Amino acid sequence: MARYCALIPGVSGVVGSGLARYLAAHQDWEVIGLARRAPAVKPPYPVVLADLADAAACRSQFGALTQVTHVLYCARASHAASSKEPIELNLAMLRNLLDAIEPIARGLSHVHLLQGSKFYGSDLGPYKTPACESDPRIAENNWYYAQQDFIVERSRGKNWHWSASRPHAICDAEPDIARSLPKVIAVYAAISKELGAPLSFPGTAENFSALYQCVDATLLAQAIEWITTNRACADQPFNVTNGDFIRWENLWPRFADYFGMPAGPVKTMRLAQAMADKAPIWTRIAARYGLRPLPYEKTALWSYGDFVFSPGYDIMSDTLKLRQTGFDRGLETGKMFIDLFDRLRAARAIP
Ligand SMILES: NC(=O)c1ccc[n+]([C@@H]2O[C@H](COP(=O)([O-])OP(=O)(O)OC[C@H]3O[C@@H](n4cnc5c(N)ncnc54)[C@H](OP(=O)(O)O)[C@@H]3O)[C@@H](O)[C@H]2O)c1
Repeated sequence: MARYCALIPGVSGVVGSGLARYLAAHQDWEVIGLARRAPAVKPPYPVVLADLADAAACRSQFGALTQVTHVLYCARASHAASSKEPIELNLAMLRNLLDAIEPIARGLSHVHLLQGSKFYGSDLGPYKTPACESDPRIAENNWYYAQQDFIVERSRGKNWHWSASRPHAICDAEPDIARSLPKVIAVYAAISKELGAPLSFPGTAENFSALYQCVDATLLAQAIEWITTNRACADQPFNVTNGDFIRWENLWPRFADYFGMPAGPVKTMRLAQAMADKAPIWTRIAARYGLRPLPYEKTALWSYGDFVFSPGYDIMSDTLKLRQTGFDRGLETGKMFIDLFDRLRAARAIP
């Protein structure tokens, strides 16, 4: 019998799907997903369909979730046209969830928030690196601050604890999720190759040589399990990455080699624009290689590629705090990408 029951809001997102897949494969965990829409492929755990922005719907739909011990909060409302998440809406979603679940789940013991390097202002311009959990907040407000302040206050005097993880650039091989760095790189490479072009770097020259970090979705799931089941990690945030730092200029030749094409120079472009008219090329590639049917708009989120490949400064988090609690897992990021490309190929998501 499972020791814990995880409710995972945002189960169809990059983080939530990887976390649910990892926990559902372990005897200790029962998993219940939550999102507005059902995942494209039926998962091996139940999914509650609810709109967290709707307080009344939350109260009426969560009545049966009495067994939940852990809320692992991976939901996020975002703007289509901006990388800045709306503060009030994201705060209301978390509040609606807790208002509905707290009176019902009497054994609730932990609420975990997914945050990220935006906590340190990594999206706004050069910032203090490596970023540490104890760094002072930046002046500009964001939704992570609002949710953390809320959860700290809400947990006072309760039987449950809170924690937060701050990952960056989460990478997975879910074939149907477009917000995926491995898919952006692999689909861009396939289209470039089809056009007879080398694998040029689509970002800025400064970004090509700046330090960067990623985290594998399964490694992140292992870290979240560790943080939310260890008393020593309660009531605090943790940076979570693979543990190494990369420069795209070092990985790009390795990627070109993997895709069987020459590495090209930096050729800065807006992927969202440059790739917008490439659907016919992708359709040709997909037919030739017998790839799984997926509309072109869902193969790769090009604006996400632009977001990653634009900043001309280092993006670095210090993960010492998590390691000092005894979590000793890490990954070489270059190898992670190759492994994820292999898995995407095996799933017939890329040629
Ligand atoms: N992806 C990354 O590389 C990355 C990096 C650092 C930090 N993070 C953090 O990790 C967390 C999760 O990110 P993600 O990339 O996995 O997010 P995502 O791919 O954008 O997924 C968002 C999830 O939230 C659900 N959702 C949105 N609005 C909802 C609503 N009103 N009611 C119920 N569910 C709702 C979505 O499902 P429906 O649309 O079906 O409702 C989806 O499952 C966020 O806090 C993010 O800031 C992500």
